[in-house]
Amino acid sequence: LRRRVLRGEQTLLGIAALAADEVQVVVAGAIVAGGRVLAARRSAPASLAGRWELPGGKVDPGESDAAALTRELREELGVEVEVGEQIGPDVALGPRRVLRCLRARLLDPTRPIEPTEHDQVRWLTADELDEPDWLDADDELLPHLRTALAAR
Ligand code: CDP
Repeated sequence: LRRRVLRGEQTLLGIAALAADEVQVVVAGAIVAGGRVLAARRSAPASLAGRWELPGGKVDPGESDAAALTRELREELGVEVEVGEQIGPDVALGPRRVLRCLRARLLDPTRPIEPTEHDQVRWLTADELDEPDWLDADDELLPHLRTALAAR
């Protein structure tokens, strides 16, 4: 199993066989407010520019998932959040990398979103979730996001 992973087969079963410090976690925020979730359009790198994602980024060594998401959302959107539960499963991004979606609640919902890295943001209702051209991994989370939106 491990050899298959090292050859690059992208299965979560394979990733589960790796030690925690061999897996790079990328956290992404499902910022839900008023029955909508915030989507952000990437402006870089060129290969991903124009596609939509749940904003977030890589967890640094020794950093908790919640601390990483708090930091990334502050840097990228100028917002302060409280991080909640995971939404959906870890999604494989590569042989040693997963995307992990966590609920994020805005501490001050009246404060405007000020994107520093994205060129557009958009609040989506459950019915609008299919509209953006999502990154592949985020696309896999949509059914789980829909459920999370319905629960609030
Ligand atoms: O900001 P940082 O460099 O830490 O990370 P990033 O560039 O935002 O994310 C690292 C990689 O994770 C990206 O190149 C995307 O391939 C992937 N990603 C994703 O698939 N979906 C997201 N919602 C966020 C990141």
